[in-house]
Amino acid sequence: MSHIEIPPGLTELLQGYTVEVLRNRPDDLVDFAVDYFSRLKNSRNLGIDGGKSEEKDNEDEEDEDFEPPVINRYCRRVSVCAESFNPDEEDDTEPKVVHPKSDEQRSRLQEACKDIILFKNLDQEQLSEVLDAMFERTVVSEEHVIDQGDDGDNFYVIERGSYDILVTKDNQTNRVGLYDNRGSFGELALMYNTPRAATIVATTEGSLWGLDRITFRRIILKNNAKKRKMFESFIESVPLLKSLEASERMKIVDVIGEKNYKDGERIIAQGEKAESFFIVESGEVKILIKSKTNKDTEDEVEIARCQKGQYFGELALVTNKPRAASAYAVGDVKCLVMDVQAFERLLGPCMDIMKRNITNYQEQLVKMFGSSMDLTDPGI
Ligand code: CMP
Ligand code: CMP
Repeated sequence: MSHIEIPPGLTELLQGYTVEVLRNRPDDLVDFAVDYFSRLKNSRNLGIDGGKSEEKDNEDEEDEDFEPPVINRYCRRVSVCAESFNPDEEDDTEPKVVHPKSDEQRSRLQEACKDIILFKNLDQEQLSEVLDAMFERTVVSEEHVIDQGDDGDNFYVIERGSYDILVTKDNQTNRVGLYDNRGSFGELALMYNTPRAATIVATTEGSLWGLDRITFRRIILKNNAKKRKMFESFIESVPLLKSLEASERMKIVDVIGEKNYKDGERIIAQGEKAESFFIVESGEVKILIKSKTNKDTEDEVEIARCQKGQYFGELALVTNKPRAASAYAVGDVKCLVMDVQAFERLLGPCMDIMKRNITNYQEQLVKMFGSSMDLTDPGI
């Protein structure tokens, strides 16, 4: 299979040119490109010899207001620190990035973004700015979309295609998860100014929507600062998360989204593939199960209720099986939602507590329905 490598620096180079076009609005894009790239070359030569030659000093004066794109300018931080950004320091003066789209592209983009957790708390204006800035990228099988250790350029939303998540540690590469036709990736390097934490390889041909680093930081990070204010104290009060360090809880806040449900609305459907994990923020959630004995009828039996601060939807993620039960809102409900990849990455330290609870589920079901109920059996 052919393999398309994007040369390092290409994105910044083209973004720099685009920004200048938007700033200067030239009549002739080709003339402007010749001028822009010649000036870029001069400024690079100046950088190499320290600007000592007279000729280049003159060019420097001419190019006083020339701002070359900075390639790989992002300061790398080796350790991930939850305090690694201050949205007030982010540059709000950059022109907005707009990638024009046909109606057909726009509707595919909206469909791909509708369940993206990081976009859940954006207001309408922020969401339109994000959608305007997104650009389509198609990939071929075996293409590396992201390489671990690289600087972060874009955040990606999946429209279609499967992607492996590979992490190399101590010279050993392991597949730690996969994306199957949905989800998003590439947020960590942009949020925390860290090198890419994993390699993402397409295992089929696919289509992605990219969001550039500058727009991502301007909008998503600002929104994350708001989320921290809103959810920090609640997250601190969630019993399951008590054993985590404060900085680990903060990272949870960064990747969660809030979802609202109306009375009676189904949040999880028994038997479905699991994508996310839930914490009740307000209201009450009831868990209902169709047992083997009543499976052929539509009757469901209530087996549990979850109140504020309690979690559900972990079982299918831990066992890698379909949902074992259904969950419904009782009255108006707000839940915090996390995708499976974030769940696996951030909730490892809470796994013992969750597994203990899963043993309780099994015991409770046996008490209610007899020993025919087995949570490890997806046919429940
Ligand atoms: P980033 O570090 O920018 O680039 C690689 C992406 O892989 C990362 O952001 C996450 O979006 C995604 N990812 C999914 N699972 C993991 C994981 N277990 N560890 C690190 N990154 C992961
Ligand atoms: P999951 O299987 O992902 O989706 C349904 C959820 O219901 C399940 O995870 C648990 O979080 C929750 N649940 C609560 N009580 C039980 C129970 N006794 N058996 C199975 N699931 C339960």
